[in-house]
This record gives sequence, C-alpha cells and structure tokens, in this order.
Amino acid sequence: MEGSVSLAKGAADAPFYLPQGDECSVFEAAYENGLPVLLKGPTGCGKTRFVAHMAEKLGRKLYTVACHDDLSAADLIGRYLLKGGETVWVDGPLTRAVREGAICYLDEVVEARKDVTVVLHPLTDDRRTLPIDRTSEELAAAPGFMLVASYNPGYQNILKTLKPSTRQRFISLEFKFPPVDLEVEVVAEESGLDRDRVTALVRLAGKLRALKGQDLEEGVSTRLVVYAATLVAQGMPVDRAILAAMIEPLTDDEDVKRGLLDLVTAVFG
Ligand SMILES: Nc1ncnc2c1ncn2[C@@H]1O[C@H](COP(=O)(O)OP(=O)(O)OP(=O)(O)O)[C@@H](O)[C@H]1O
Ligand SMILES: [Mg+2]
Repeated sequence: MEGSVSLAKGAADAPFYLPQGDECSVFEAAYENGLPVLLKGPTGCGKTRFVAHMAEKLGRKLYTVACHDDLSAADLIGRYLLKGGETVWVDGPLTRAVREGAICYLDEVVEARKDVTVVLHPLTDDRRTLPIDRTSEELAAAPGFMLVASYNPGYQNILKTLKPSTRQRFISLEFKFPPVDLEVEVVAEESGLDRDRVTALVRLAGKLRALKGQDLEEGVSTRLVVYAATLVAQGMPVDRAILAAMIEPLTDDEDVKRGLLDLVTAVFG
C-alpha cells in the first residue's frame, strides 16, 4: 500500500494551523526526544491539519496512512513484488519513514488489525527498531523518525479501543473543538467569509454541539463550519448553506433534523 507523501519545505510553507494550547510545543518536545505521539479527538477538529503543519515546521517528510481493518502489517512494512520477472523487496510507508527519518502518521489507528499494532511496539518504546521478518532485517529508526497516530474516541465500540500496552507507548494530546474566538479565527481564515457571519455560524455550531449524546452521535465539526462558511462566501444563502453543510451531514432522522432547524431559527431569527 502506498502512503501519501508530502515534502517538507519549512515553516513558511506550513499549512495554516491555529494552536488551541501548547500542543505545538509538546509535539516538538516529543519529536526532539524521539517519542511517539497519539492525537485523540472528534472528527474534523484539526488533527490531520496539525500533523501536516508540524511536519512542515520541523522540516520532515510526512507519510500518511489511513488505517482500516484490511490493512495488514505487510501494507505498512513492505512486501516482495514481481518486477520484470524478478522478485524485489518494496518498502511500505512505515519502513520508508523509519529509513529516511520521516514522520509516519497512522490515521484512525484503532481501525488497524492486531498484527499491525504489534509491529508498532518495538518502534514505540526505547528500542526504536522495526523488525522486518521477511528480509530478516532489524531496522533502527533514523534520526528524525517519528510515529504519530490519531483516533476518535467517540464512536468506537468497546472492541475498538487501543490495548493499554499500545496506548501507553505514546505521549497523548487531546483535541477538542476550539473556543468561539479561536474557531471564528480558523473558519474566517479557511473560508474568507467576514467575521460577523462566521461568528453566527460558530455560535450555531456551539448550540448544535450541546445536543451531542442526546440526539446526535457527534457534534458538528469545525470542518463542516468551514464548509458552510465557504458556501456562504461563494454567495449561497445562509439557510441553504447551513442545511447542506451543518444539518444534513449530522442526521438522517427527520424529527432530529426539525429540532436542529429550530435551533437555526433561534440563532439566526
Ligand atoms: N486549529 C486549526 N487550525 C486550522 N484549521 C483548522 C483547525 N481546526 C480545524 N481546522 C479546519 O478544519 C478542517 C478539518 O480538520 P482536520 O482534517 O485536521 O480534522 P481531523 O481532526 O483530522 O478529522 P478526522 O478525524 O475526521 O480525520 C481543516 O481542513 C481545517 O480547515
Ligand atoms: Mg484526519
């Protein structure tokens, strides 16, 4: 499996990321000390953006792997492939990151199978090695290698949490939806919409999030607020943009939808 690769160009080119707290300095400290980092938080709250930003800032290449339950250890590590009649070994994204001293980002790591998490163990403790059984190699991680994983603790069932022996190998950072003023900053920057209209959308998002757990599985993400603001900035009427970007993506239940629309009326009149 190919992970997506982005080349680091330095802090000036880093994708926009507005910190909520000290996450950048904790990440940097982990990087300096070769410690792996686990990001926990709801969908669309900035985890992927944060990793992309930090990789650029630290001048590291980034290999991103979206984990799923079919992903095998070989997809991460590599396999023998037939090329022009010859069998050649091809590194997977994790092995490449280990060799090159890059950042390997495992998105939704709880979706990965057990054989995958086991592979991570020697890499995420003081050994910092990757055993490659097929080639009988024991790769030592190059300086600069860092393992980053993320997951959403919200919608996992009990079977899909990380084992303590895995999670206790990572420095962990919790991501939450940002406070109003910061979220306004993020959405305004991302969408180009004026602050007044962005503030109204962010207020609505706060009200919708308060319903999490009762009617909604997940609160509306910053990503969706950015979508709504982008549509409004393009000229779409606010109520249409809200329905398309902040209501329909949350539920299929007509009653719940009506309840959410009442909230829209309460905020926008
Ligand atoms: N702190 C932030 N700084 C800049 N942009 C942000 C921030 N938080 C959220 N965003 C915006 O929200 C969008 C979604 O963020 P991102 O893709 O990083 O979410 P995620 O936490 O990785 O979600 P998922 O768990 O679904 O993968 C980004 O594309 C960006 O526009
Ligand atoms: Mg993500």
